[in-house]
Amino acid sequence: MKVGILTGGGDCPGLNPVIRGIVQAVANAGGQTIGFLEGWRGPIECNYIELTPDSVSDIIFKGGTILGSSRTNPHKDPSLVEKILENFKKMELDCLVAIGGDDTLGVANKLHAEYGLATIGCPKTIDNDLSSTDVTFGFDTSINIVAEAIDRLRTTAESHRRVIVVETMGRHAGWIACFSAIASGADYVMVPEVPASIEEMCTLLKKRREAGKKYGIVVVSEGAVLAEEDGLVTQHGEVDDFGHVALGGIGEKVAEIIESRTGIETRWVTLGHLQRGGSPTAADRVLGTRLGVHAGRLAASGAKGRMVALRGTKIVDVALADAVGELRTLDLEILDEAREFFQ
Ligand code: F6P
Repeated sequence: MKVGILTGGGDCPGLNPVIRGIVQAVANAGGQTIGFLEGWRGPIECNYIELTPDSVSDIIFKGGTILGSSRTNPHKDPSLVEKILENFKKMELDCLVAIGGDDTLGVANKLHAEYGLATIGCPKTIDNDLSSTDVTFGFDTSINIVAEAIDRLRTTAESHRRVIVVETMGRHAGWIACFSAIASGADYVMVPEVPASIEEMCTLLKKRREAGKKYGIVVVSEGAVLAEEDGLVTQHGEVDDFGHVALGGIGEKVAEIIESRTGIETRWVTLGHLQRGGSPTAADRVLGTRLGVHAGRLAASGAKGRMVALRGTKIVDVALADAVGELRTLDLEILDEAREFFQ
């Protein structure tokens, strides 16, 4: 039995533990694993490396992915899909495990549903926005990074009596912003799910200052929209292979508005790719390993068109088709709990 693995889309801490888990489970079942390099570009160009339990034995603590990643979309051009099908046959693969977010898993699903390819999905993203799984690995690491950054920003904000606006990633879901705002005791959070009121935030910041708190921390998700303004703030108009615009810049905008409306000196910090870098937390290593082991077992059992997922404390498998195409946005009950502190 021969299993291929690839990692696609934005990298995230926990990918290497998944790879290690798959390789070990496949080897235990008597199979062999290869790792395609740089997302879907790997099977298109037949660019791969051999993976063995020995070669992946020391990667559990490493961030990123030893296989590299890309946002390549083979469905942009039918000849690219043909190449994948050819290479799958040429390599005598029994199964391809795609580790990725909605875009990467969407490709895996289409290759299975429309071309009969034996694919299995494993959900990943720091954004935590995939349906059919309770949480994605990478998310825990990213909120720990943001919370630690805010702890540091708090002392300088306090020294200078400033407000600091912290812009987080997360695309169109506010999980990272909301969880890191709660974890760091921020004064306000803006998430994409609920248009944020500048008026409410400025009133709160002024009230706190009058009450004696001389600094403030505001967390803004990159995909947040302001109730008083139109549309998303983007870096430039270009879109990637899957049609997504690059978000970013709302932190600066919010900081300028706060300073002009309240007169409080305000700075902004965009944490950007720091949120995806470095070693995975222990929780992400464990979740990644468990998902990898189950994906490897599934591949070895001959399953296809399935995705491994976390439900409660158990790893289960669900239909890949049911898992893609639906964004899982922030649970508003959690935002409501956070709002207890924004009075
Ligand atoms: O989906 C993960 C993510 O980090 C988003 O939070 C962010 O908007 C995007 O990827 C950034 O993509 P890139 O790495 O291509 O700049």
